[in-house]
Amino acid sequence: MNRRTVRFMPDNRVVQVPEGMDLHRAAAAAGLELKSVCGGEGTCGRCAVKILEGKPEVGGGNLSPRAKKQGLVLACRTLVTDDLVVEIPADSRLADHQLADGSTGRVLAENTYDRLAEFGLSPLCRKVKVKLPEPSVTENGSDLSRLLLGLKEQGVEGDITISLDALRALPETLRQGSWDATVTLAEISCRETGPRLEIVRVEAGHSEAPPYGLAIDIGTTSNVVHLVDMSTGTVLERRGTYNRQAMYGDDVITRIIHATEEKGGLNDLRKAVVETLNGLIESALLARDLDQEEIVAAVVAGNTTMAHLFLGLWPGYIRLEPYIPAATSFPVIRAAEAGLQINPVAPVLTLPAVASYVGGDIVSGMLAIDVEEHEEVTLFIDIGTNGEMVLGNKDWMITCSCSMGPCFEGGGITFGMRAVPGAIQRLEIEPGTYEVKVTTIGGARPRGIAGTGLIDALAKLRSVGIIDRAGAFHRVPNRRWRTGAEGPEFVLVWAEDTEQGNQDIVISESDVKNLLRAKGAAYAAIRTMLQTMELPPEAISRVFIAGAFGSYLNLRDSIEIGLLPDLPPERYSFIGNSSVKGSRLALMSRVARDKAETLAHQMTNLELSEGNTFMEEFVSALFLPHTDLSLFPSVAAVPSPDANAAGAAGTAAASNEAAVGAGEAQSQAQTQVNNENEGQHS
Ligand code: FES
Repeated sequence: MNRRTVRFMPDNRVVQVPEGMDLHRAAAAAGLELKSVCGGEGTCGRCAVKILEGKPEVGGGNLSPRAKKQGLVLACRTLVTDDLVVEIPADSRLADHQLADGSTGRVLAENTYDRLAEFGLSPLCRKVKVKLPEPSVTENGSDLSRLLLGLKEQGVEGDITISLDALRALPETLRQGSWDATVTLAEISCRETGPRLEIVRVEAGHSEAPPYGLAIDIGTTSNVVHLVDMSTGTVLERRGTYNRQAMYGDDVITRIIHATEEKGGLNDLRKAVVETLNGLIESALLARDLDQEEIVAAVVAGNTTMAHLFLGLWPGYIRLEPYIPAATSFPVIRAAEAGLQINPVAPVLTLPAVASYVGGDIVSGMLAIDVEEHEEVTLFIDIGTNGEMVLGNKDWMITCSCSMGPCFEGGGITFGMRAVPGAIQRLEIEPGTYEVKVTTIGGARPRGIAGTGLIDALAKLRSVGIIDRAGAFHRVPNRRWRTGAEGPEFVLVWAEDTEQGNQDIVISESDVKNLLRAKGAAYAAIRTMLQTMELPPEAISRVFIAGAFGSYLNLRDSIEIGLLPDLPPERYSFIGNSSVKGSRLALMSRVARDKAETLAHQMTNLELSEGNTFMEEFVSALFLPHTDLSLFPSVAAVPSPDANAAGAAGTAAASNEAAVGAGEAQSQAQTQVNNENEGQHS
């Protein structure tokens, strides 16, 4: 097939693609993600690009008259039939998505924290070269029996079966290679049944190419795929994008509702995630010029709902008390059953979960660190829409999940947004003048506030005395402080300095209250686990923070607002996307695969709605940093901004207001939690 060159501007990325491929996929092959709300159907109009040079075949689709006038075409409807130069407007790209894969942010360098050497190489698939004797009238056993003998001669032990696909191709393949062949063996076994090997692919002759596999993280928000050389464990390509399931809702609860209450809903969600993954896989394969056939294994990690939706399992009882998943251990299936566009018989292993709200992503994260090896107490936290955490050491592990709401991912906050270019991720407020300095992702003009920026905002508003410990606003003599439609608010960026140019970016009192509830839930969950084990916070020797959000977190501000325990900074490590790292380990090592099963069984799930102190802890944590300041000695040591900001009379008034605000916050929180039983795990 002819190949064509496409140059994407302004990135100046060049890619060679087969003639006839659409521009959407070509961009993905160049590592550039375009928006795709409709999944490439040509109906959403979000993937508009401009052809600068060359003549492609332009199809129809839903493009606005204005866009047409600007000379734009839909990438998903435009086929590469010529060498092209294509401009991708900022509005059409998802390339600003920050890969939650550990390749960005302040993560521990992969090679300084890779447990593969400790686990040892025993990948899910390996290749064995065989040299078979030619058949004759006297040596007339079947081709398969000849192949099995050849494998035994190479020291392959155990029961060996062959996939029907490989068997169908076997006679011709063996003869093409003049009885030299390269056999890809997959380990299909589980611990209980012992090793069972299956021939998934036979190549003619002796191939030097390694077997390739995929480590996959299915997150509620983002999906990440790593292409791995399974002979060494090296990650060759990393791809990530938003989970297309987002079109059916932002959180797991709304997706479960869609799956269970809409006709064909479960299939919609299964299809959406599989399409997302296939887009990423295709892009990685194109970058390495590999065929689908060559990808012979995949390991998937995701929260329990994501695992259910990927496998098409009924998720309805996950959201209903007593929160029962269909399964926590999942069968190994074939890529064709999963719908993944790789070798159809490639085994696809989904990592086991602990419970409905502590999934395989957390088990996978625990594989990537070494809690089970250490005496010292370790805390592992994955912060997203849900906060999932594990506390433990080599003798015990408890885990829990709490709903933090969508605020730290940009939802439910007036100017909240995801961590993409233009999102404020750091800010400073000058005491006295109240001037604000913001830093955005990518240095772009501000468009909104990312979760990490919101944490900074809370800490800084508090430190200059604009909000009190209960999150109530206190008037300061500056025009940035004003009363908006929702009550008091503070202007962070004036409209003329924003990307949109038409609205000031503000943070309001109700935003602050939402943030208090989110951070309060996380801290209360940590405290509840500590109290269950009768441990003080300082007993925690190490804290691992996972997830893209963690990679950009300002540690000091997170402690100041009472989101994280007041521990010395050296006890904290940011480990990026531990879920995809654990998937890779499971892909590469039998020890890791067995350990995943063991860890899932070892962790005791603490249900926060039942028989523990979570609710009291939550109410106590709705303050900055907490009602009990002795839990935050480094914060308590700094003089209170209420005293700095006001005179003696003002201070008294402020204290009163703070006390009233505190009481109000307590009762509001209580009401919210009572009203949101289901929201425990939204
Ligand atoms: Fe929706 Fe192209 S992806 S129109």
